[in-house]
Amino acid sequence: MFKSLCAQLNCFIRKRYHERMATHIQTSTTRPSAAPVRLTGLRCIVYEIALNGWRILWETVNDFSLWRLIEYPWSTEALPMRRGDIVLDIGSGTSSYPHMLAKEGVNVIVAEIDPGRVRWQRDKRERTARPGDGAFYPLVADATRLPVRSDSVDRITAISTLEHIPDDVSVGQEIARVLAPDGMAAITLPFTSAERTAFFAGIRPFQRVERNAFVQEGKAGSFFRFYTLDDIKRIYVEPMQARITSWRGFGRSWLNWKYHETRLTRYWRKFVLKDWLLAVIVHPIEERLDRTDPLYVMFTLVKEPSNRGSTQS
Ligand SMILES: C[S@@+](CC[C@H](N)C(=O)[O-])C[C@H]1O[C@@H](n2cnc3c(N)ncnc32)[C@H](O)[C@@H]1O
Repeated sequence: MFKSLCAQLNCFIRKRYHERMATHIQTSTTRPSAAPVRLTGLRCIVYEIALNGWRILWETVNDFSLWRLIEYPWSTEALPMRRGDIVLDIGSGTSSYPHMLAKEGVNVIVAEIDPGRVRWQRDKRERTARPGDGAFYPLVADATRLPVRSDSVDRITAISTLEHIPDDVSVGQEIARVLAPDGMAAITLPFTSAERTAFFAGIRPFQRVERNAFVQEGKAGSFFRFYTLDDIKRIYVEPMQARITSWRGFGRSWLNWKYHETRLTRYWRKFVLKDWLLAVIVHPIEERLDRTDPLYVMFTLVKEPSNRGSTQS
């Protein structure tokens, strides 16, 4: 009797939680639009300290490093997002980016395949949520089969994630399906204009497994793919008949070939303030002067309004 009462109460609480979450998300989106959210590199560092402690200045606890100090500010500004918007963040891992957005009032759905990382996201949210934060909805979800309605999401972010998913064709179709007509996605992924025959050559044991794709020996989940412009068009642009509305690279002769893909990579997660200096001083100069391939590109896609439902599963 007592057990059944508890089960009913539990069921009632869960139902109320989901109803409140849905209402919160709906009412937030109908608010008058606010100013676009801006995340400077320094603001990201302050959030990262607030979320994970001062120790991150010495050594970061997740992938928060030079590339993220370039990607988070760029993606946030390029979309743009406003307080009350809903953003689907694909492959969040243990990154603080979804929390940073939620703290700016954005409603965030985390879609991550690893249950442990989703638990980490949920626990972090429970410990750090403050009144006024946007809603936060962590989901164990496979980007090749997103548990999200077609044409329903206005904003998608995928930060340094899609290169790790072997079945990227399905991911491209899923992004096209769930994005609302006129919706925008901000994607960052590795780039090459020609064939890449090695990755971290002589530094880490990456083996080539197919054209432009590598796996690190003995490291599960280390699949890593470089994209040519044709690949990007075929996999991500064409399924949603999208327009590329902004495009930027990072990590060329200096930041990649003199730092990231060298032995200096042992300092990659250390002393994040040096990365902030590299991001705000060296990165813009490199992007202005250097014409070699960037290691990564960041771009935004807008789904054609006429593409409604055309990719529904
Ligand atoms: C490099 S990490 C993510 C980085 C993160 N976005 C950030 O800002 O630091 C890539 C993540 O993608 C996740 N992932 C891999 N395959 C996936 C899939 N099919 N669907 C969803 N997430 C996936 C991995 O579990 C991992 O947490």
